[in-house]
Amino acid sequence: MDVDMHRTHTIMADLYGALPRQGPGSADCTRRAFSMLGSLPERPLVLDVGCGTGAQTLELARLTDGYIVALDVFDWALNRLSEQIVERGLAGRVSTTKQSMMEMDFEAETFDLIWSEGALYIMGFENALKTCRPLLKPGGFLAASELCWFRDDPPGEAREFFKTGYPDMKSVADNVRLITGSGYELFGHFHLPDRAWWDDYYTPMRQTLPALRQKYKGSPDAIAMFDDCDLEMAIHTKYAAWYGYEFFVCRRPATMGA
Ligand SMILES: C[S@@+](CC[C@H](N)C(=O)[O-])C[C@H]1O[C@@H](n2cnc3c(N)ncnc32)[C@H](O)[C@@H]1O
Repeated sequence: MDVDMHRTHTIMADLYGALPRQGPGSADCTRRAFSMLGSLPERPLVLDVGCGTGAQTLELARLTDGYIVALDVFDWALNRLSEQIVERGLAGRVSTTKQSMMEMDFEAETFDLIWSEGALYIMGFENALKTCRPLLKPGGFLAASELCWFRDDPPGEAREFFKTGYPDMKSVADNVRLITGSGYELFGHFHLPDRAWWDDYYTPMRQTLPALRQKYKGSPDAIAMFDDCDLEMAIHTKYAAWYGYEFFVCRRPATMGA
């Protein structure tokens, strides 16, 4: 890893590693999505894609008696999750793997459930649907939260922001079509409530930023990253009615050849 990349990872670890989550979500939402799944084997094999420091991984470990593989690209996130796994005595059931979701090397039809909160946008939702399907056993489930437009008339400032932030962002209805068109049965979907943005993500981020600005003062790259966070929170404060996360729960059909 070159020096610049190492430095970026250090800043990210200081910023995101200090938060309970690395994106919007909550234990309630994880539980709600989990309750929408059809029946799972007694000990399902679960993959958590883009696990971060693992808030939802640990919740999944409470919800199932299965085995969970938590995947992310950043050591700082995986190390923090690994500490939690050991502290909670989960080492026999939860493991981490450092892999890119773009190059996952699992065998076909491995998982009973693929979970991903706030992360599939990194490979693009459509691409993620294509990539995950063959990794699921027939009848296996995919549960993922995805950033969506909730209304089709976003104000110019919000539209401009996501032109750079997530140009491929779609409406909920378009994503529903994408899911069914990609060979999944949709079991249900719901909006993440606004407190799922704030309680474990934006509020602690807002509390952390002043000390980080102090620590990194004179470092334009770090300050630019913190400015982006402030802008993102300001956009959300103004335009939360127009966009948000939708949790989708779907299944690869169980029928032969599907
Ligand atoms: C918005 S965060 C969500 C983290 C966690 N699921 C949560 O809800 O708190 C996105 C996660 O994707 C991870 N990530 C970024 N690029 C990735 C890649 N190519 N493959 C796997 N994970 C990646 C980030 O490290 C980060 O943990």
